[in-house]
Amino acid sequence: MDLKFASRMLNVKPSATFKYNALAKKPGVINLTIGRPDFDTPQVIKNAAKKALDGGKVHYTPTKGIPELREQIANKLVSENGINGLDADDVILSGGGKQILYEALQALIGPGDTVALQNPCWVSYEPMAYLAGGEVDWFPLKPEKGFIPGTEYMNRFEKTSAKVLILNSPSNPTGAVISKKLIREIMDICLRKNIFVISDEVYERFVYDGKFYSPARDYENVLTVNAFSKTYSMTGWRLGYAACYNRELVDKMNLIQGQSLSCCTSFAQYGALTAFTNEARKESDRMVSEFKRRRDYVMERIRELDCVCVKPSGAFYVFPYFGVDDLAFSEKLLEAGVGVVPGSPFGSCGKGCVRISYGSANVELLSQAFDRIEDAM
Ligand SMILES: Cc1ncc(COP(=O)(O)O)c(C=O)c1O
Repeated sequence: MDLKFASRMLNVKPSATFKYNALAKKPGVINLTIGRPDFDTPQVIKNAAKKALDGGKVHYTPTKGIPELREQIANKLVSENGINGLDADDVILSGGGKQILYEALQALIGPGDTVALQNPCWVSYEPMAYLAGGEVDWFPLKPEKGFIPGTEYMNRFEKTSAKVLILNSPSNPTGAVISKKLIREIMDICLRKNIFVISDEVYERFVYDGKFYSPARDYENVLTVNAFSKTYSMTGWRLGYAACYNRELVDKMNLIQGQSLSCCTSFAQYGALTAFTNEARKESDRMVSEFKRRRDYVMERIRELDCVCVKPSGAFYVFPYFGVDDLAFSEKLLEAGVGVVPGSPFGSCGKGCVRISYGSANVELLSQAFDRIEDAM
């Protein structure tokens, strides 16, 4: 049978990070492709999920998620992020930050609408915009400026006709953390131009220098997106969430969820109920301080290489610019026994860069990996 696929499939590429992760699984390869921590989920969360499973929490939950977890998330967003006045009904839980972002774009974007993206940015935003029927307007970031928005970015942004901006700080793939002052400048333009902002805060806790800032603290035109995935090393649990002052948006996302996912895994939600305890927080903090140590070590080694790399303040990635064909260079590094992700799938401004994740390799492994990279160069 000659099967004709929907035209929306034309622009959808496979996730480059998943592809290069699969390639790096060869024996003997040190895998620095993975966007996930190598820590276990805190025991208290696992125990709570096991208890829920044994206690019969095996059925559908409300589409938006169990009210007690949504309430805890609302409390966290108020007390930690300063997003005052939120309550459980302003929060939706979904199958990971990815599903949340997908639903948000499906709810907001259609043919003729444009999504503004940082260039480079996480590999899934662009295909998600296309899957919603929209277009993308790219905003360039430069390695020598540490991938922080500068004058060119702001000037171009003043002229955009985008309906939605996706802001991601700390950033995947660059690790860049945008200051409160700069985020506010961007938000002021968005307010003036009636641009809605999706603030992807999944690396919120991974900030090593400076301070994290949620724009929803001071602006109403924002959907705040986060997940348990990175903060608590729960990538396989598939639990993400979003909150917004505009409850209509949350309800529209909930409509999509009701007709697609139904709800997220029940016992995973009960496990996550303990994520805000001191015990779980301590584990998460321990992971973050280890990652800071790794970031500092990686920067020591990067400085010895012929590349441009401003020390990133967050996430668990570095994105050095080597000025070479990044696809061929990644191949070469793979042959030398180190898996990295080439920069160009993250956007045209990622050309010549590679993404190195230190989330899944301890300092000893990182040391071996950089020895190999040095030899290959
Ligand atoms: C910037 C960014 N946003 C969202 C996600 C999605 O995370 P999750 O595993 O919760 O779907 C990722 C995962 O790598 C990411 O890097």
